[in-house]
Amino acid sequence: MSIQAHLDRIQTIFQGSFYTPDSIVCLVYQMLLDSLPQSKDYVLLDSSCGYGSFLEIPQRFQSTQFTQIIGADIDKQALQQAQKNFKDCAIAPLFLHTNSLQNVSREKFNILESSKLVIIGNPPYNDKTSIVQHHLKNSDFFEIDSTLKARDIGISFLRSFDTLKADYICVLHPLSYVIKESNFKSLKNFAQNYRLTDSLIISSQIFCPKSLGFFPILIALYKRDNQGMDYDFICDFSFKTCEGKEFRLKSFDFITKYIDKYPNKNRVDSGHKVAMFYTLRDINALRRSKTFITKDCTNAVYVTREKYSLYCYVDVFKQIIKHIPYYFGNCDVMIDYEAFRALESDFIQASESKILSENIMQYFKDLLGEHYAD
Ligand SMILES: C[S@@+](CC[C@H](N)C(=O)[O-])C[C@H]1O[C@@H](n2cnc3c(N)ncnc32)[C@H](O)[C@@H]1O
Repeated sequence: MSIQAHLDRIQTIFQGSFYTPDSIVCLVYQMLLDSLPQSKDYVLLDSSCGYGSFLEIPQRFQSTQFTQIIGADIDKQALQQAQKNFKDCAIAPLFLHTNSLQNVSREKFNILESSKLVIIGNPPYNDKTSIVQHHLKNSDFFEIDSTLKARDIGISFLRSFDTLKADYICVLHPLSYVIKESNFKSLKNFAQNYRLTDSLIISSQIFCPKSLGFFPILIALYKRDNQGMDYDFICDFSFKTCEGKEFRLKSFDFITKYIDKYPNKNRVDSGHKVAMFYTLRDINALRRSKTFITKDCTNAVYVTREKYSLYCYVDVFKQIIKHIPYYFGNCDVMIDYEAFRALESDFIQASESKILSENIMQYFKDLLGEHYAD
């Protein structure tokens, strides 16, 4: 059911129509049903259902019944296919052709205010400032309720789930939505009213195997909770990966504490610079970007003498980046500051010579521990 076959590449990216393989749908159900109370009176909604992969409850979970199953999508052709897929089912889901981010209310989706609601699925994600925009006019973007507007449509979807007051939400979304503080802030009411209770990180490779780079996707289970969660909760959360690893952001120290990631020309006088470095977003950006640069540009970060060794550290980090697993792709560069200071001159030498000594390699093995990828 999962292979999307009716859109071209640009439309696929624009609508975020990367459909979910059945094996991942199963993982989502496993996580949801491990936590969902035994009661059988939940309504199940996928407000971006595509061909309906999440509305066909996997065989081994079929003892779980929902009082009503609802699928919605903005894509008419997808819904036609979904309807075909369920035509022989005893109780077919209710399918609604709608923009799920406009006039959001329970009534729109035929859900009673009194019903208990579970939202499931893989909402689209695309960053409107990204590559896709180069191919699309402004008028190609559909309306979104003003309270839900965000830079990334996936964040708008999460906020719409709060408007619908879902009791449980079990969806896929980029890990960066919660681990990047600026994204986390844009979750607004969603973060105030939900708590992450379970998680599993998978690689985006499963959706786009031909892509040149992969990013971490979180299968996340959220429970409505008026305590909500703050960024500190996320930093202390233990994220599990599908490779059986586990990590907390709090167990690492990050380079951002010590150097400027973004252009700093308004603070650092050009007379004090000994080098220039390219803007540093996260580990995945570092995989593709330059490090030290010789020509000044808008993305140049001025490097002072006191900070030079730390930028050399980042340059060396890029050289060993193949040992960093995909699930750290949206993190900042990690550092063990004390151990770095003990090896400071080795790092300068390694950056300048591009030769990595045993000491340097051991440093990274120690820094990453079980996460060091061979
Ligand atoms: C990642 S796909 C997921 C499809 C399906 N749930 C699955 O996992 O196989 C995202 C879906 O969101 C739909 N979509 C995008 N924007 C939407 C909107 N504003 N309202 C409703 N659906 C939307 C797309 O048409 C696409 O089918």
